[in-house]
Parts: sequence; structure tokens; C-alpha cells
Amino acid sequence: MHATFYARGLEAPACLTRRRLTTACYRTDCLVSTSHTKACLKAAGANVEITPAQDRINRHAWRSRSARNWFGSLRDWTDPGEAAAVAWVADQVRDQPLLDVGVGGGRTVPLLTQLSANYTGVDYTQELVTICRRNYPGARVEHMDARDMSAFDDNTFSLVMFSFNGIDAVDYEGRRKILREFSRVLKPGGLALFSTHNLHGPSYRENISHLLHMPDISADPIKVGIDTARMIYSFPIGVFNYFRHSRLNQEFDGYAVRVCAAHKFGILIIYTGMATQRLQLDEAGLTTEVVFGNTSDRQIGVGDDVSREYWFHFIARKPLNP
Ligand SMILES: C[S@@+](CC[C@H](N)C(=O)[O-])C[C@H]1O[C@@H](n2cnc3c(N)ncnc32)[C@H](O)[C@@H]1O
Repeated sequence: MHATFYARGLEAPACLTRRRLTTACYRTDCLVSTSHTKACLKAAGANVEITPAQDRINRHAWRSRSARNWFGSLRDWTDPGEAAAVAWVADQVRDQPLLDVGVGGGRTVPLLTQLSANYTGVDYTQELVTICRRNYPGARVEHMDARDMSAFDDNTFSLVMFSFNGIDAVDYEGRRKILREFSRVLKPGGLALFSTHNLHGPSYRENISHLLHMPDISADPIKVGIDTARMIYSFPIGVFNYFRHSRLNQEFDGYAVRVCAAHKFGILIIYTGMATQRLQLDEAGLTTEVVFGNTSDRQIGVGDDVSREYWFHFIARKPLNP
């Protein structure tokens, strides 16, 4: 292995020479790499294909049994803001072609097919695609990564929706690719609707104490027992994930990558400020029309206090003459 470096005139990373993790390994994702050495090879300039850590962590979480059970059982709106956002677009996209990105176990299938039978769902997690097809056998659901939707022609859909903060699961460059794909596959005048975690909201501040939510002791004793057992089971996994993943937390101008309490601190996501999100949409050729929070059905204006919103629902339009 070291010969690869010497032949290229590169210095072998310490984790290879000394066979232990170094600070550089943490910076280069070694810690969470299934193949530790690949990340180090890449860091040293070798041309090796690796899956970025964020992708690897999140894909692992979506495939877990608990995520499959949960996403497969979800029904109805996630929050009042989502219901309001879909109501806002409803009349403009009724009976038109709709694309539901990151459909998961299919929560949004009945919500969108009641607007239009011309419906397509996609998700990059094969296990969730299978569950979704089983839950909604009549729906068209494809296995696809939102960063590359070249299977769809330009100007195809009137609405592209990526619900429940799914877009936050990819890194910044992946996010920009997804927004460009939205812009490409939307018809002129079409709408993109997606939710994204608020950089200035309560979930950005969640830490390990989140794992210690005591069960409501006034509830049914069986439920208290189940909740307590769940907490005891989740605690060590949550603590392990928290420390493992929070090493990859990073703050940038207007957004941050940070471990999220969901899935026992099992996902690493992007949190965004409103202004940055608007800029990203502009860059992708989409114009922000309205923004809702998750706590109510009220629209959020520029300068409003957003500190209580866990996430935003952005609605943006592709101009008629792009
Ligand atoms: C939080 S879950 C939401 C699932 C579903 N939309 C719901 O609301 O119940 C996020 C979903 O997005 C999917 N996802 C994340 N990144 C994706 C990508 N790049 N391409 C396609 N699907 C993606 C995941 O597989 C997962 O099913």
C-alpha cells in the first residue's frame, strides 16, 4: 500500500504508517469510513473513488430497520406548514405531472395523488422504494438519485417536491446539483417545494440531552414501560453516534453541516439560513415565491423571527422565460 505513495512522490498518511487514526483522519472522514485507507489515499492526492462521509452516514440511516419501519408507517402531513405549502401550490398544479423526490415509504403518495394522477415518486434508497411500492402498488415509483435525474427530460413536471428535509441529507455540492435538476425538469412556470432545516432553529441546538427525554409517567403503564425500554436501548447508540458524527460538524457562511438528533443522531445534515437558501435557489434559476415554517400555517417574511421554526418549506418558481 505504501508503495502507491512512494511511487507518486507522496508522503503516506500517518494512519497507514502508524496504523492509527490521526487528527488528519478526522478531517478527511477516515473515522466514519468503511474503508479507512481510501479516504486517506484521497487526502494524499491519490485518485480513488470514495463515497463522501455524509452520504455514507445518511444512506446507512435510511436503510436501517427502524427507519424502514418508521417511514413505511408514516401518514398525513408532517406539520401545519407542509399542509399550508401544498395548499398554496394545489390549484396551480392540479391534474399536472408531479414529481415526488425522496418519497421514502410513501407518506406523500396519497397527499399528492389527490392533486393529480400523473404522479411519479423517486428515492435513492432501494429498501424504501420497495416499501413504497408495497404500500401504494398503483403509484409509479422509481429508484433514482435526485442529483442525477437524467432519466427525465427537461421541462417535464409542473411540481417537484422534496419533503421532510430530504434535501438536507446531501452535501452542499449535492444540494446545488439537486436544485439545478429541479430547475431543469420543471416546466417553465413550474414550482419546486421542499423543506430544509433552519440554521437558527431549535433543532440546530439539539445535543446529547435530547436522548434523555423521560417517559410521561401519567400515561398507560405499558406505554411507560415500552418508552423506558426504548430510551435505555437508544441511549448508548445515540451517545456513540453523537460523538462519532459530531466530529464532522462544520459551520460555513450561511449554512452548517451538523449531526441531527433524528435516527439516534444517525444523520448528518445541512442546516440553512433563509437568505442563503434564497441565494442557492437564484443560482439554480429558481425564484423564491413563499416560505412557511413548520410550527404554523403562516407565511414567513424576510426579517421575521424564525427562532422557533425547526424547518422551512420553500416554494420557488422556474421563470416562464428562463
Ligand atoms: C426524511 S426521509 C423523508 C421520506 C418521505 N419524503 C416522507 O416525508 O416520509 C428522506 C428521504 O429522502 C431520500 N433521499 C435523500 N437523499 C436523496 C437523494 N439524493 N436522492 C433521492 N432520494 C434521497 C431518503 O432515501 C429518504 O427516503
